[in-house]
Amino acid sequence: MGQEAKIRDNQGGSWLYSDMVKDHFFNPRNILKAGEEDAYAADAMGRVGSPACGDEMVIWLKIDKETEKITDCKWQTFGCGSAIASTSMLSVMLIEDGGMTLDEALKVKPQDIMKRLDGLPNRKIHCSVLGDKALQSAINDWFRKTGQHDRIVVQGAKVIDATLNITDKDIEEAVLEGAQTVEEVQKKLKVGAANPEAIPEIEQLIRFYSEKYYG
Ligand code: FES
Repeated sequence: MGQEAKIRDNQGGSWLYSDMVKDHFFNPRNILKAGEEDAYAADAMGRVGSPACGDEMVIWLKIDKETEKITDCKWQTFGCGSAIASTSMLSVMLIEDGGMTLDEALKVKPQDIMKRLDGLPNRKIHCSVLGDKALQSAINDWFRKTGQHDRIVVQGAKVIDATLNITDKDIEEAVLEGAQTVEEVQKKLKVGAANPEAIPEIEQLIRFYSEKYYG
């Protein structure tokens, strides 16, 4: 790992950013300039918003119809430096060495991007998954446009606690914001004691999402 930059947040805490993160933040690769969207003539587009911070991410893909390889990828975001650095790196990974197939692209995990960036502060992981989710949405757009409806991956929310109306997506967001226990999830979701029957499933989901995002 190279040199790191110490940056203070507004609560006085300090975060370390690797040289690789700084490089992709200051020189983001494959950004689509505002106003060039139509001229770019993408084959597929995905747009997502972050429930954690309200920021938005858009990804455009060009796809070879025969091989289903991603031949080009552009993106735009109103997100922060970590979202910029991680999506810049994701865009590089998608098109390097002749481009990934859609199936390969769907297997890219947030940790794969983190590894290439030499890490990100845990508090910023929720920013790095924005690119990932926009990519998933762009690939779904392609499946829709090419009539491959059976390949569309729908991330439907499943209700875990009907009394409090907690879904698996709520738990995913709470984990992305740093919750690691049932108590911390409840605090984030601003709810009281959970339905006791729901606790084992909530614990299981916390483990699942912690493993998925923090490895
Ligand atoms: S804080 Fe919104 S993308 Fe990072």
